[in-house]
Amino acid sequence: MNSLRSRLSAIRRHWLIALIALVLFALALVFGALIGFLPGMAALAVFAILVWWVVLEIIAWRARGSGSAPDSRREARNAVIAGVAVVVVGFGLMQAVPYGRDRTAPPVTGEPTWHDAATRTLMVRACYQCHSSEVEYPAYANIAPTSWAVQRHIDEARGAVNYSQFATDPGDARETIEVIRDGSMPPAYFTRFGINPDAKLTDAEKAQLIAGLEKTPGMSESGERGERGGRGGG
Ligand code: HEC
Repeated sequence: MNSLRSRLSAIRRHWLIALIALVLFALALVFGALIGFLPGMAALAVFAILVWWVVLEIIAWRARGSGSAPDSRREARNAVIAGVAVVVVGFGLMQAVPYGRDRTAPPVTGEPTWHDAATRTLMVRACYQCHSSEVEYPAYANIAPTSWAVQRHIDEARGAVNYSQFATDPGDARETIEVIRDGSMPPAYFTRFGINPDAKLTDAEKAQLIAGLEKTPGMSESGERGERGGRGGG
């Protein structure tokens, strides 16, 4: 409690530093939201602030122990150095985390029977960077924390549907046409700011893809019924 009070009074004395820290915190959240990794970035930002706080406590505690008189300028300098150190060291340590480095793809067991080559090409362009066993990792997947975001999206996407394993596990493939039509796939964060331009289909390409998928078994709820009906009738 005591240390909380002294920390709060330090924040009042060094409000500019506190404000900069707050802005950086907010930027981390905005970045997290933009790359589709808000919970992860929020956890990282909170963790960084906590570590910074603990480091400042230790510095203050040692200063008290050494009996040196409180010095506001030194306090400010320590806060900035500690803040930069937490970010730099933290960033370095994040690179050592194995998550996102293992790029072993699950086996290919069989794709859908695509209506034609163009349908497959469009699916590869727009969807295979997440929903396949043929993911080509982008350059930004080499640096944490974006590498974690990419890996998480791929894990989640394969969990929903992996078109390379359609033959053994169609997953949510029957929602394929629906998610393309309603624009929820590929996710907005994937094509934002001009990244992954290949995945951003024009309206004409989207229409062409949907037309092809309508003639590809298993890509929509109604298509599935039509298939079954057709087979039953024949
Ligand atoms: C950047 C990675 C990424 C790309 C590219 C992508 N998806 Fe997804 N997709 C996901 C993730 C993550 C989920 C699961 C979480 C969710 O629903 O947002 C998902 C879920 C799905 C689902 C399950 C239903 C649902 O809405 O949860 C379908 C079907 C799907 N995607 C189809 C597609 C299709 C078709 C494309 C290409 C037009 C595509 N996705 C492109 C990441 C991606």
